[in-house]
Amino acid sequence: MERIDKIIAKELNIGRSDAKSLIKSGKVFLNGEKVKSSNQKFDEEKDILNVDGKEVKSRKFVYIMMNKPKGVISSTDGRKTGEKTVVDILPEEMKRKKLFPAGRLDKDTTGFMLITDDGEFAHKILNPKHHIPKTYIATLDKPFDEKVINAFEMGITIGEDICLPAKLEPVGNDFCKGMVTINQGMYHQIKRMFKRCGIEVVELERIKMGKLELDKDLLSGECKYLNENEINLINSR
Ligand code: URA
Repeated sequence: MERIDKIIAKELNIGRSDAKSLIKSGKVFLNGEKVKSSNQKFDEEKDILNVDGKEVKSRKFVYIMMNKPKGVISSTDGRKTGEKTVVDILPEEMKRKKLFPAGRLDKDTTGFMLITDDGEFAHKILNPKHHIPKTYIATLDKPFDEKVINAFEMGITIGEDICLPAKLEPVGNDFCKGMVTINQGMYHQIKRMFKRCGIEVVELERIKMGKLELDKDLLSGECKYLNENEINLINSR
C-alpha cells in the first residue's frame, strides 16, 4: 500500500506538493469518496482512484514501445549537448520520473526503442550474457553478396573484437536492403560490420527486439504501452 499523494505524483508526473494541492482542492476520489488526507493509503489490488474526473491507474513499472524518429538521441541526458532525447519527446501523459531508454540507437537510426522505468528488466535484456537478438533493416549504398552473408555468419572483426555470428538476408530480392539480426550491442555495430565489408549503411531501422516486432501502426515518433505478453516476447529468443 502506498500513500495516495505518492501514487498521484508518480502517475501524473507531477511533484508531491502539486499532488497534495489536488487532494486539498477536493479533486481526488478514492472508491467514489472524496480524499481528505494525503496520507490515506491506496491498495493497488482493489482501490479505484479518480483525479479530476479521470481514473488514474497505478502501475509499478511501464514499458513503452517508441517508433524512434531520426534526430533524437537515446541517452538519458541531452542537456550537455542541447539535443532532444527519446524521453523528451514522449507524449506528456506518458512521462514519468525515472523513465530511460533500454539500450541505444544512433541519432540517425529509426525504429523500435524500448523505454521503461524497470531497471531490472532492462538489465536482464541488455546483459551481454543473455543478450536478446535484435533485428534491423539496413539500406545500403551498394548490394551485398554471399561473401558478406558468410562473413557475417562467421563473425566480423571490428577493432579488437570478433562479433558473434549475425544473420544477414536480403529484403525480398533487394540486396541493397539487408535484414540483419545481431545478438549483442556493440557501439555502431551494424554500420561497422558493413563498413568492414566495404559497404556504407545509408539508413538503419530496428524492427524487432527478441520476438517482438515494431508495431507497424506506430508512425514515426509515436508510442504505445506494452502488455505483459508483449513484454515477455522481448525477453525471448
Ligand atoms: N548498429 C548501428 O550501427 N547503429 C545502431 O543504431 C544500432 C545498431
